[in-house]
Amino acid sequence: MASENQDIPEGNVQNILEQESLKWVFVGGKGGVGKTTCSSILSILLASVRSSVLIISTDPAHNLSDAFQQRFTKSPTLVTGFTNLYAMEVDPTVENEDMGNNNDGMDSLFSELSNAIPGIDEAMSFAEMLKLVQTMDYSVIVFDTAPTGHTLRLLQFPSTLEKGLGKMMSLKNKFGGLLSQMTRIFGMGDEFGEDAIMGRLEGMKDVIEQVNKQFKDPDLTTFVCVCIPEFLSLYETERLVQELTKFEIDTHNIIINQVLFDEEDVESKLLKARMQMQQKYLDQFYMLYDDFNITKLPLLPEEVTGVEALKSFSHHFVRPYEPSTHRNTVEELERKVSTLRQQLKDTETELEKLRKGKQKI
Ligand SMILES: Nc1ncnc2c1ncn2[C@@H]1O[C@H](COP(=O)(O)OP(=O)(O)O)[C@@H](O)[C@H]1O
Ligand SMILES: [Mg+2]
Repeated sequence: MASENQDIPEGNVQNILEQESLKWVFVGGKGGVGKTTCSSILSILLASVRSSVLIISTDPAHNLSDAFQQRFTKSPTLVTGFTNLYAMEVDPTVENEDMGNNNDGMDSLFSELSNAIPGIDEAMSFAEMLKLVQTMDYSVIVFDTAPTGHTLRLLQFPSTLEKGLGKMMSLKNKFGGLLSQMTRIFGMGDEFGEDAIMGRLEGMKDVIEQVNKQFKDPDLTTFVCVCIPEFLSLYETERLVQELTKFEIDTHNIIINQVLFDEEDVESKLLKARMQMQQKYLDQFYMLYDDFNITKLPLLPEEVTGVEALKSFSHHFVRPYEPSTHRNTVEELERKVSTLRQQLKDTETELEKLRKGKQKI
């Protein structure tokens, strides 16, 4: 393989499969770069070395169902063909169902709260989900996250919730009397009373703090950045890596997807030009992230859907992709020369025809 002559060894995701202490694996990047594909494959690979794996999609544009060609819901469902791989799709933007929908008083309180602190309801439903998942005893949990900005917002919850609690306190002081009056008028039991809700928020805060501590522990958590070899994606990846560093979340794997390899049968000028363009950004990725494991994945002629396609694509996650490169044999070059001669002849004939046509006019 060509990598023998290069100073940079081809990377892979073996380090993730070998890190037995890992509990949370986040997979993130811009939309369309291959997050769902990569997180699905990581979960499949992890399922072969771990006792049980759960993959959760928090991207409102869910496509785990498309990738695995199986319907998933907000509860973990066993993936067909596996005994220890489960998948679920949660929508972080949907307000929690059992929170405040039962009565007008709570509704207005919560809408006031979510107006005051954008993202609080999202944070709350994510917290609920994490609480649930924590009780479920999976050996490792893979997140197919929403595009960059969204994910990072989710990782900021502790401060979001802190603000929420503060706001709640001031609301309680302001409307405390009114609220308890309302709960009485509407005949609501103690479970919807302000104290119950405050208790719940406090409880949520504990979960969040606990989870956040785990997210910041590199033995337990890592973030895998998925990108493509293009300017915007390089730029986004750098932003993502910087934000993760700011939040103290470990990241040391980059997957560069949709790479065009110089295969023996690539003749297209367009492809060749794009390959050159990609090479420029690949070089920059290797330069910027020389301490990362960088895995390159080939762009396939077809989509990667269904367990079989995912499994066969998964080979490139542990072994570098090898383009077919038995070029430049004598026969190969002779074939190329004769093709080019033919093309030259055809073009000359065409040109001749055009010239004649022009003279007539
Ligand atoms: N290397 C690849 N070659 C060909 N198709 C790919 C490749 N990686 C992903 N795809 C396809 O591209 C589409 C988008 O990928 P997906 O993983 O859903 O991206 P994201 O989750 O980042 O939006 C899917 O249809 C997927 O099957
Ligand atoms: Mg996706």
